[in-house]
Amino acid sequence: MAAPYTLRWGIISTGWISTEFTEDLLVDPATRNVNDVAHVVEAVGSRSLESAQKFIDKLKAAPEPYAWGVARGALDKTKARASYQEVYDDPDVDVVYIGTPVTHHHKDAKAALLAGKHVVCEKPFTFDLAELDELIAIAREKKLFLMEAVWTRFHPISYAVQDVLASGVLGRPRRYAADFSKDFKLETKPISHRLLAPELGGGGLLDMGPYPSVWAMLTLHQHPLNTKRTPPKVVNTYQTIYSRTGVDARSRWVLEFEELGAEGILMTDMLCQNFKEGAVVLQCEEGDLVIESPPQKPGVFHIVPHEEVDGVKERSTHDYTIPAAQGHGLAFEADAVARCIRDGQTECPRMPLDESRIVQSWFDAVRKNGRTVMRDMEGTAGK
Ligand SMILES: NC(=O)c1ccc[n+]([C@@H]2O[C@H](COP(=O)([O-])OP(=O)(O)OC[C@H]3O[C@@H](n4cnc5c(N)ncnc54)[C@H](OP(=O)(O)O)[C@@H]3O)[C@@H](O)[C@H]2O)c1
Repeated sequence: MAAPYTLRWGIISTGWISTEFTEDLLVDPATRNVNDVAHVVEAVGSRSLESAQKFIDKLKAAPEPYAWGVARGALDKTKARASYQEVYDDPDVDVVYIGTPVTHHHKDAKAALLAGKHVVCEKPFTFDLAELDELIAIAREKKLFLMEAVWTRFHPISYAVQDVLASGVLGRPRRYAADFSKDFKLETKPISHRLLAPELGGGGLLDMGPYPSVWAMLTLHQHPLNTKRTPPKVVNTYQTIYSRTGVDARSRWVLEFEELGAEGILMTDMLCQNFKEGAVVLQCEEGDLVIESPPQKPGVFHIVPHEEVDGVKERSTHDYTIPAAQGHGLAFEADAVARCIRDGQTECPRMPLDESRIVQSWFDAVRKNGRTVMRDMEGTAGK
């Protein structure tokens, strides 16, 4: 068997999701039945050298399943860097992973692309569509790989849900409702917190919106009967203001998928918990698809018959829970990135840039129609 292609990562920032992503790079790929690609971490960049070093030291002491990669040298050459730019300029780094707050994504991704690096950027891709379009233009001009890190797309459950829809058993989709809600106990958080501070892209829309959106893209936009793949229209929006900082506590928007004759309502909420048994409900002519919470990493979905006897006859439950041995579930996207870069692709077919653009445009529409302090905020495109 040929040796796996090893992708060399540079990690930007040392916060929560960067930690989880880097831990998952250390998990044995065989736990995911992967043997063609592997990952090493070449550099970690932070605004402080101390934080970068602490991040690496903590990873080196991580328990299983992360200790597997440490023992096999995935962190042996990892350099701590006192600035992000040093990571972009590191000739040993193939691809940069960006885990900074959303209002920093554009400038961080742009600097990495301009330094000639492939880029994977956390969701939501950018603050607004103008920023994203500039990144896409730079990546295309420089023939570099660029992808939004929507991990859910790469989970086994996402492929399984799409297989059910492709089988035709549920028939034509009619109505969709998806929700990502979490009671963040906002009163206990300082107003400087990423979720509350407008300058860091606070509010539920940008932080949580990618997840009701990803299922709308996978189940409706990519539905086999949606042949023209016309971007759905945003036909209504509403936001509730969180008074301490003026960001959105709740956002709702309605999408129309004209060719399918289907409509969907998408919701985010920072004040209450998701309904465990159904974060996503896709109602179709012959039966319904119900995906359990949490929508960013659901384990289980159900196929549910209608009350009438026509169509799907029996309820069935499908469990794709990601086992602890596979880590947090972020390595599936990393494997896909490695394959794309190995094969010289500049875009990931599973997470196309056009689909990131569509979702980004929904966020722009909801924000600009709303009443939050971020309504008229502009991103850093062109700067
Ligand atoms: N895929 C997922 O499941 C998932 C989950 C959570 C979050 N996210 C996304 O990942 C991004 C980061 O979220 P997070 O929860 O990891 O945030 P976090 O814990 O606050 O970490 C963000 C990091 O960004 C760096 N940073 C640079 N400029 C900053 C500034 N002005 N203020 C604060 N931090 C700054 C800091 O690292 P240094 O000090 O090292 O520079 C900080 O540790 C967001 O876009 C979020 O939407 C994705």
